[in-house]
Amino acid sequence: VADIKGGPDQGLDRLGQTLVVKGWVRTLRLQSTVTFIEVNDGSCLSNMQCVLDPDTEGYGQVESGSVATGASIWVQGIVVSSQGSKQKVELKVKKILVIGKSDPSFPIQKKRVSREFLRTKAHLRPRTNTFGAVARVRNALAYATHKFFQENGFVWVSSPIITASDCEGAGEQFCVTTLMPSSRDDVDSPVDGIPKTKDGLIDWSQDFFGKPAFLTVSGQLNAETYATALSDVYTFGPTFRAENSNTSRHLAEFWMIEPELAFADLNDDMACATAYLQYVVRYVLENCKEDMEFFNTWIEKGIIDRLSNVAAKEFVQLTYTDAIELLQRAKKKFEFSVEWGCDLQSEHERYITEEAFSGCPEIKAFYMRQNDDGKTVAAMDLLVPRVGELIGGSQREERLEYLEDRLDQLKLNKDSYWWYLDLRRYGSVPHAGFGLGFERLVQFATGLENIRDAIPFPRTPGSAEF
Ligand code: 4AD
Ligand code: MG
Repeated sequence: VADIKGGPDQGLDRLGQTLVVKGWVRTLRLQSTVTFIEVNDGSCLSNMQCVLDPDTEGYGQVESGSVATGASIWVQGIVVSSQGSKQKVELKVKKILVIGKSDPSFPIQKKRVSREFLRTKAHLRPRTNTFGAVARVRNALAYATHKFFQENGFVWVSSPIITASDCEGAGEQFCVTTLMPSSRDDVDSPVDGIPKTKDGLIDWSQDFFGKPAFLTVSGQLNAETYATALSDVYTFGPTFRAENSNTSRHLAEFWMIEPELAFADLNDDMACATAYLQYVVRYVLENCKEDMEFFNTWIEKGIIDRLSNVAAKEFVQLTYTDAIELLQRAKKKFEFSVEWGCDLQSEHERYITEEAFSGCPEIKAFYMRQNDDGKTVAAMDLLVPRVGELIGGSQREERLEYLEDRLDQLKLNKDSYWWYLDLRRYGSVPHAGFGLGFERLVQFATGLENIRDAIPFPRTPGSAEF
């Protein structure tokens, strides 16, 4: 269907051709002599309008009520020009087969339903216009991400999901426990999914085969080991944060893209982040036109113009000190007060991106390179309107003594970073990188207000169904 609807003359070049469409019924309109079925096969936003009459082979299925919203069907017909105003062509159906009927309880009927409601139907929401479009744009952003880095000579590295280190040092990690076969023997059927021993107690005694292990919060440290061997690399995979924050920008499981550049400083890092973001934004504008028009109309008015600006304009660069001064000079009353050294809150980010520049930094992690002033580090955040912090990055501390001092200051256990410290012992180089939260990018590109709608199966506090 995308092939036809996406074409320059929207299928007029296919007039007279025989076509098979397999998809799901969106709507059914029964009239006395003709029946219209809108079918969507997920390849694009547009439905194919199918026209049937009593001569259509298999029409009995329509009459018997087997064709209803949600049903899967196979239709074969001829492409003819359409009288309707919504489409240039439609399918005059010769034969219809119902593959899977749909129960009348199908919860997503034609009337518009809220995205909040659809979160409780995560298994069916991809059948809506919005979530179909989000899935395609998310896919395009992932493809463009690989395309950008591959075209620029980066090597994709898989970072582990299970790890013993805490990259951000914030202790926001989920623990890994093991259900050993031996302990599973005396597990009563874990109906509710929680393993119990015979006496009914939950068995939390097993960790990762006798060693502590966590779900990774970031693949950065692993990326650094490959950057100090292959030069420019990137990771792209799931990461996990056990922060109990119920906001529209936080997930417990999110995907992160983390490039790491060897022989590079903070300026190279910022240049890479800018070029990357502009590339992927341009990519979706050019390749997801129909879906972007949909977002522009239904989700965020003007998003196409705003993204076109991002793709074309230079980004404003602001030092931490300037950002603090800007916030202090602001006439606005903030809930959290602003002093040099404080971590910027979302309200501050919002002011900077939406009011000060309709167009920074935080408490810094141990791995960030100390500046000559001895009190700031070579780090950057990329803030965008509506989403706030999209990217966090830095030049890494490549000097062994500084790094050891910093670990001590933060009371982190040096022993567990022995391999990371080794990178500074053997051929250390200046290097830098950043992390971009993929769902925030999806939010930014689609205009979705809530990050729970930017990932197929959101994981947030108390929600791991589906
Ligand atoms: O700023 P963060 O914590 O930086 C790091 O993890 C670095 N190790 C990255 C690096 O330099 N390689 O996270 C990076 C980005 C944020 O800017 C944000 O976009 C996203 O990850 N992010 C989240 N996205 C969704 N839900 C959460 N709970 C997120 N926490 C961070
Ligand atoms: Mg950050």
